[in-house]
Amino acid sequence: MTLSISEKGLSAFQDARFGMFIHFGPTSVAARHDWLMDGENISVPDYEQISAQLNPIRFNADEWVSIAADAGQKYIVFTTKHHDGFSLYDTALSDYKITTFTPFKRDMVRELADACARRNDVKLGLYHSVLDWHHPAYRFRQESGLAWSDYLGFLHGQVHELCSNYGEVACMWFDGDWPHHVFSEEKAHFIPGGSFEYDRLYDLIHTLQPDAAIINNRHAEPLPGEDIQGFEQDLPGVNSAGFNTSYISSLPLEVCMTINDHWFHVDGSINYKSTQALIGYLVRSASVGANYLLNVGPLATGEIVPTHVSRLHGIGRWLRTNGESVYGTRAGVIPPTAQTVSTRRGDTHYLHILADVSDCVIVKGVPETIQSAHLLATRQAVELERREDTVVLTIPSAQRDPFDTVVMLR
Ligand code: GLC
Repeated sequence: MTLSISEKGLSAFQDARFGMFIHFGPTSVAARHDWLMDGENISVPDYEQISAQLNPIRFNADEWVSIAADAGQKYIVFTTKHHDGFSLYDTALSDYKITTFTPFKRDMVRELADACARRNDVKLGLYHSVLDWHHPAYRFRQESGLAWSDYLGFLHGQVHELCSNYGEVACMWFDGDWPHHVFSEEKAHFIPGGSFEYDRLYDLIHTLQPDAAIINNRHAEPLPGEDIQGFEQDLPGVNSAGFNTSYISSLPLEVCMTINDHWFHVDGSINYKSTQALIGYLVRSASVGANYLLNVGPLATGEIVPTHVSRLHGIGRWLRTNGESVYGTRAGVIPPTAQTVSTRRGDTHYLHILADVSDCVIVKGVPETIQSAHLLATRQAVELERREDTVVLTIPSAQRDPFDTVVMLR
């Protein structure tokens, strides 16, 4: 049996268009690496000592959720367990978890779920790594005498908990299974001991959480039961990262991306994308029917890095005026140019002008039905002239938004 998300859940997920990814865990304590355990070849006992120090005393779930809301992000996706196998919630299936293994003792997923439930503008989605560098049945079956089925029981059991104990979930976001990646012998700790039995896992989620979207960051064609196709660090089909598939399915899409070069907080991070670049990625994603899931990696103390907060705030400010051209829209039908992309809601088309190269914006492929043009921000009329198969819009620079000038075409 292959179930899928409810229509209501799927359209709500697409309408959201902008979300906050949050990478947090023991890796944040060292702040040196996204894949600390693997990258520095740290043994399980040594890594456990790092995990035991996790103590984000300044973590305030309401604050995280309100930073997301201020940015105009409609959902959060939080790392319930990353590749290091450490659970940031009170799982009954392991002691390697924040509530017993650390001085902090609090269930971060519970606090985030409660904070989201206290307001109705941000929903909670849950990231879960199927790859596990700590669990003996994933990695140390020979030594432990455990079988792959023991790991499957653990994985499916954790998903069951996450879908049962934290109220309504916006999405289940899986990671760590990359079928096209070839891992050398010394990276054997990446290789699963068998099938993840996704059919069963996905049916379980769709049964427990009928409105939750399933996304699996496999860098491959989506499997039956997956509701959204995801792309990592790239717009759909672009694959500058090298590991994405260029195949684009007919499913709704999601792009996930970092603000700098890291998922977790790494000291000395550089290469922050500008607010303008981030708004560009958001609207380019929306223009091809994709949500944009933008990552923050909080400090070990539990605070979101100020540079991240200020970027998010800038995006939020732009969205407060221009959100109508993003939320609830679907992929645009006006062909993109180097300068423009479009989104659409019914018969209203939103032309996003992302660069200011001349007073005129020349677009082809504008539907014949379009009669008028207005700036979304001010509702001022924009001069629209049809010349054969092109439409010429004249927008003086004083009326331009430095990030993205949106023209509403009707
Ligand atoms: C990649 C990284 C992983 C990160 C994820 C987020 O899969 O390996 O660490 O959590 O991307 O999309």
